[in-house]
Amino acid sequence: MALHQPHGTPTDTLAVNPRYGRTVAAVPRHALPEGEMNPVAAQRIVQDELLLDGNARLNLATFVTTWMEPEAAELMASCFDKNMIDKDEYPQTAEIESRCVSILSRLWNAPGSATATEADDTAVGCSTTGSSEAAMLAGMALKRRWEARRRAAGQPTDRPNIVMGANVQVCWDKFARYWDVEPRLVPMEGERFHLDGPTAAAQCDERTIGVVGILGSTFDGSYEPIAEIAAALDDLQERTGIDVPLHVDAASGGFVAPFLDPELVWDFRLPRVASINASGHKYGLVYPGVGWALWRDKDALPEDLVFRVSYLGGDMPTFALNFSRPGAQVVAQYFNFLRLGHEGYRRVHQASRETATRVAASLEETGAFRALTHGDELPVFAVTLADDVDAFSVYDLSATLRERGWLVPAYPFVEAREDLHVLRVVVRNGFSDDLADLLLADVDRAIARLGRQREPLRGAEHADFSHGAHRRKGTVRTG
Ligand SMILES: Cc1ncc(COP(=O)(O)O)c(C=O)c1O
Repeated sequence: MALHQPHGTPTDTLAVNPRYGRTVAAVPRHALPEGEMNPVAAQRIVQDELLLDGNARLNLATFVTTWMEPEAAELMASCFDKNMIDKDEYPQTAEIESRCVSILSRLWNAPGSATATEADDTAVGCSTTGSSEAAMLAGMALKRRWEARRRAAGQPTDRPNIVMGANVQVCWDKFARYWDVEPRLVPMEGERFHLDGPTAAAQCDERTIGVVGILGSTFDGSYEPIAEIAAALDDLQERTGIDVPLHVDAASGGFVAPFLDPELVWDFRLPRVASINASGHKYGLVYPGVGWALWRDKDALPEDLVFRVSYLGGDMPTFALNFSRPGAQVVAQYFNFLRLGHEGYRRVHQASRETATRVAASLEETGAFRALTHGDELPVFAVTLADDVDAFSVYDLSATLRERGWLVPAYPFVEAREDLHVLRVVVRNGFSDDLADLLLADVDRAIARLGRQREPLRGAEHADFSHGAHRRKGTVRTG
């Protein structure tokens, strides 16, 4: 939520126009109108304002779902009025949430989840508003567990730290700042654009509450080597006795790797992995407003963080930052699970991966770009300009593409490689081959036109839309 300060004056007005003709009335823009208004007029005023928003289907900046089937939209509309926290009043919505957790625990190979009886499945989990809330919950659990271990050993619990790559999404900076944990950000180096095993282990000490590995970096779509990080932490424990749990931020990859890379071991198959988060509203293919957090077992989630709400005459454990929250997104997640199944998710994401790899390769073929990633992990890639391009910047290209409606973010790359300026493309369901061809044709036209400039017109100050990738702006580093 943007943090707004009141602006405008009560007399600053908004024109109300009839279908044909001139302004007939004015309503205040920044103050509550005195009287009521016809609902059609109110709807029209708001809708007209929203025309200035970008076109969601042409938004290659966001990881978040921009299209769902009409049946899903209908289902969501039918439960807009359901509050997820009212487990007693909407027990079937609560049941559906619980089924989604079971489905995810199997998808992420929680201990016992593959056996026939659900009683063997040790995982616990919950829905959230997105991966950011899930990250706060997982981070809190890591911190509480560390404190408990330290207290039990008669050690102080001040100055905890969390180790992660400098490429983490801004939600982890938030976690560190809001919960007073030192963020130990491992800087990128040379062509290493994310965390690896040795660099992660080297930052850990007895005050480390956990390491965060990312399955699908926000900056460039690459998977961090989770198994290698886990092995390095196993080795650290063997050498020093320091036992550091691993959390996997699988915001995007948690819904991609199980379908496209089943042989990749990144999840609860690794005993070191204590918890995982993912965004249902990214490659889970649900409209914005749902994420998931799962812990490998009850020990990984301290009981004192769990609150109970009433449910069918008994009570139900909950773990959340919000109290009230819409139920529609959770229902839509379950709809997608039923509608697509394993094969459907595989087919949808395979198509996105093929489009992403084709577009990345085609951009390189123009000679104007060097691909830093190729869209073959998340269907997301980042390109920088080839060394001999000096007439324009990635910011010029992003602005030129915007003239045609394309939203392609440009930003300085990860900390310590801010000398690289990149464009990032997120391919999602709905970015068809045809749209990809239209984008490529527009890029061709844009680079021909921009190539006639004498020099770049825009620099990094134009890195204006970056979806959590450009996370240093205005942040105060600690530690
Ligand atoms: C790796 C990663 N973690 C966390 C987040 C935050 O996710 P959400 O928008 O669901 O809160 C993102 C968002 O892009 C992300 O890419």
